Amino acid sequence: MDLQNYVNGKWVDARDGSRFDVFEPATGEVLATAPDSKPADVDAAIDAARAAFDTGPWATMSERDRARILLRAAEIARREHDRLVEMESRDSGKPLEEAKHDIDEVAFMFEYYGGWATKIHGDIPPVGPGAMSLVVKEPVGVAAMITPWNYPMLMAVQKVAPALAAGCTAILKPAEQTPLTALEIPKILEEAGLPPGVLNVVTGFGETAGHPLVVSPKVDKVGFTGSLEVGKLIMKNGADTLKRVTLELGGKSPNIVFADADFEHAIQGTCDGIFGNQGEICSAGSRVFVERSVYNDALEQMVAVAQAITMGGSLEPDTTMGPLVSKEQQERVLSYIAAGKAEGARLATTERTVTDERYRNGYFVPPTIFADVNNNMKIAREEIFGPVMSVIPFDDVDEVTRLANDTNFGLAAAIWTRDIGKALRTAKAIRAGTVWINDSQPAPTEAPWGGYKESGIGRELGPHGIEDYLETKHIYINIER
Ligand code: NAI
Ligand code: MG
Repeated sequence: MDLQNYVNGKWVDARDGSRFDVFEPATGEVLATAPDSKPADVDAAIDAARAAFDTGPWATMSERDRARILLRAAEIARREHDRLVEMESRDSGKPLEEAKHDIDEVAFMFEYYGGWATKIHGDIPPVGPGAMSLVVKEPVGVAAMITPWNYPMLMAVQKVAPALAAGCTAILKPAEQTPLTALEIPKILEEAGLPPGVLNVVTGFGETAGHPLVVSPKVDKVGFTGSLEVGKLIMKNGADTLKRVTLELGGKSPNIVFADADFEHAIQGTCDGIFGNQGEICSAGSRVFVERSVYNDALEQMVAVAQAITMGGSLEPDTTMGPLVSKEQQERVLSYIAAGKAEGARLATTERTVTDERYRNGYFVPPTIFADVNNNMKIAREEIFGPVMSVIPFDDVDEVTRLANDTNFGLAAAIWTRDIGKALRTAKAIRAGTVWINDSQPAPTEAPWGGYKESGIGRELGPHGIEDYLETKHIYINIER
């Protein structure tokens, strides 16, 4: 499969003809090749988006028509559901069940933001008897989206749908590891009636295809999801053109199990929160704090859950954990497991592997639990982005809130208890963008998503997800003349 860029409504190769390989994580084999786009390719996409915004059909199209395109896109995504699920699963390594959830949510995002497209409005503040003020909301302009590989289509549509609803035009640069489903987005939108140039997709690497978007004076905004390191770079590199940035970065999210929790539910939810999607989740509950009186029981049961997980090829129906996305990510996670052992954390799970011959070159890492972890260890401080849980005992609410907040991140937290007062006191005390009580990981499209501290800037999803694609204009009218 030779993929192409989508620029100004046309499918094109990189100008110098260069391509890179995209691997299937379960087998390590080449799944596709994609254009290795360079600054000239990216500039062409920026020019197309700029023209579509400044003079093209998008700027003059009614909100109703924009809404209809997004609503039609939802229907087309549903029609293509099974094909997209298989593609996403193959490309990213996630099990089919998890890919189904992603694609369902993708379709709903088109629908949800299609609904918003006709409901974005400003207001009229009082400014005295002699004047009237109109506060109007306008699209921020040309928006660039730089997206990661853990939820490839979801993370892209999470940006594209609100941006289009707001009236922006866009350039999407998907992660080099997983470009397949990103290139399905313009196919869906084109069929739904999107004019050329409004959404452009270029594949390639961060420094050559992502960076030109960040520094271009013709791009008004960058929406980024990915590593803390690259998030900081984007802020720095975007400063010269005062780029608006939305950053959704990593986490080291605490998962707090109190002794009075619904025990089985808490154990299963805690495990899902770090072993789901192979642990490649920005909000993974990677630091598990357990109240000391139930610590040994909880550990024993979490190890049982981890050992019962079936690792295998992502398309196999009985697989509950697939491979990590890349060889590089597999090695990174394995190096953290080595660091945990070296620091003296106790490895509580067995180091198993996948025995099926077909997957012997897959990028697997087994579900891993470290017990008796100290919050100062490297495995408790740095984002691992793999199926590695660190379990830490605690004695009371004050201690656990202090430990939970003792991190530079602030994306999410989960609290498990039957005591609603304690749950809410703890939720208020934790500095994080999302706090789950008796659950872990739901991120419904209708509610805001984003980080405190070094987990990010801005919010995606919900009505907040549109705000970041809007400017606010004040029109002042002297009514005495
Ligand atoms: P990354 O942050 O390098 O990649 C994310 C996106 O940024 C990709 O599209 C990439 O091409 C692009 N990019 C990279 N360098 C860039 C630059 N200089 N300018 C513009 N765009 C650039 O993430 P990577 O290297 O794939 O993964 C490393 C670690 O990042 C993971 O182990 C994990 O800890 C974290 N991560 C967090 C994610 C999240 O959801 N918050 C998603 C992916 C990774
Ligand atoms: Mg990187």
